[in-house]
Amino acid sequence: MRTRPLKVALLGCGVVGSEVARIMTTHADDLAQRIGAPVELAGVAVRRPDRVREGIDPSLVTTDAAALAARDDVDVVVEVIGGIEPARALITSAFEHGASVVTANKALLAEDGSTLHEAAEKHGADLFYEAAVAAAIPLVRPLRESLAGDKVNRVLGIVNGTTNFILDRMDSTGAGYSEALDEATALGYAEADPTADVEGFDAAAKAAILAGIAFHTRVRLDDVHREGLSDITAADIASAKRMGCVVKLLAICERATDGRSVTARVHPAMIPLSHPLASVREAYNAVFVESEAAGQLMFYGPGAGGAPTASAVLGDLVAACRNKLNGAKGPGESAYAQLPVSPMGDVVTRYHISLDVADKPGVLAQVAMVFAEHGVSIDTVRQKGKEGAHDGAWLVVVTHRAADAALSATVEALRGLDTVRGVASIMRVEGE
Ligand code: HSE
Repeated sequence: MRTRPLKVALLGCGVVGSEVARIMTTHADDLAQRIGAPVELAGVAVRRPDRVREGIDPSLVTTDAAALAARDDVDVVVEVIGGIEPARALITSAFEHGASVVTANKALLAEDGSTLHEAAEKHGADLFYEAAVAAAIPLVRPLRESLAGDKVNRVLGIVNGTTNFILDRMDSTGAGYSEALDEATALGYAEADPTADVEGFDAAAKAAILAGIAFHTRVRLDDVHREGLSDITAADIASAKRMGCVVKLLAICERATDGRSVTARVHPAMIPLSHPLASVREAYNAVFVESEAAGQLMFYGPGAGGAPTASAVLGDLVAACRNKLNGAKGPGESAYAQLPVSPMGDVVTRYHISLDVADKPGVLAQVAMVFAEHGVSIDTVRQKGKEGAHDGAWLVVVTHRAADAALSATVEALRGLDTVRGVASIMRVEGE
């Protein structure tokens, strides 16, 4: 084993960074054996240098992240700061100074992954980012390497723990959205500003990364159709229950059936209780990958948290260090397919629609005609009289599969009918 250590610059020492440092210290001997050389921290860049950081030599702590990332003696830079800048400039500088990079930065990868990949390629370095998607769950490496010889057609999953916790609470306790969000905040799942999670930005960034790798195509955050959770009501959850379904915030990346384009989307959807994703509770994540030769694969585990995210970072760190030692390089960006990313309107899906209607002759026929006029076939219709009302009813329609554009045009036309007093809820149905 080589005795001269490989040097690691740690950019960021928050929830994830402090766990990375702790594992590097406590598992130093094992890591050295697995890599073939000892690995040591060259420095730790932080915003608040006065904070006590147990287990970290204070002489390694600096507020000058730029100088640390640019040190010529650093072999691997670990970026766990997050956000677009200064992370992008620091990573680019690390490549320019000969280091490989391990990052957990989903926002940056989804926004401008190509700049990072190109810089890594130019300097013959590794860019690894297992921790950017679903923390400890191995997904990036299986897609990038294990399935590199197969053809992935679909990636479908729950990739945000906060929203899964909220929906699980709404389902199991009957709580409303705000109440469930308050509980998620009190337990530390949701952040003080929960927008990134509840509005689907976090899941959309992960969907962009997964779609890019799965389909060998550049997919950016802007290419991902995104709908969040904030409009979901206890009534939607109850409707799903009556259908034998649960509501989940899903990230869905699909190759079109003709193979010529792809789509990526994040939105709440009903899935049947019999689907394996329905049993993913609390803040857990799970992702289904469907590929031509392998068939269906499911990856499940903790998708957030300091230690689980650090586990993924450490796996990448070991791989990057091994490559440094052997003068080798891992896989770079694979975007050769360059498939166009189609808009949401082209996605083929099913809708569950609850309508508040007048209860009189001809209403059902009128509603059915609107579906027919838009080429949308109805699967089931259920009518329920409204309690206490003499002339009103709930009409619940579930459609067969149709283009999302046709489904949303149908809903718009239904809103225009005199006999339709309101569209109480619209939700896509997936996983059948
Ligand atoms: N906030 C994310 C979640 C974890 O709730 O899953 C980090 O991506």
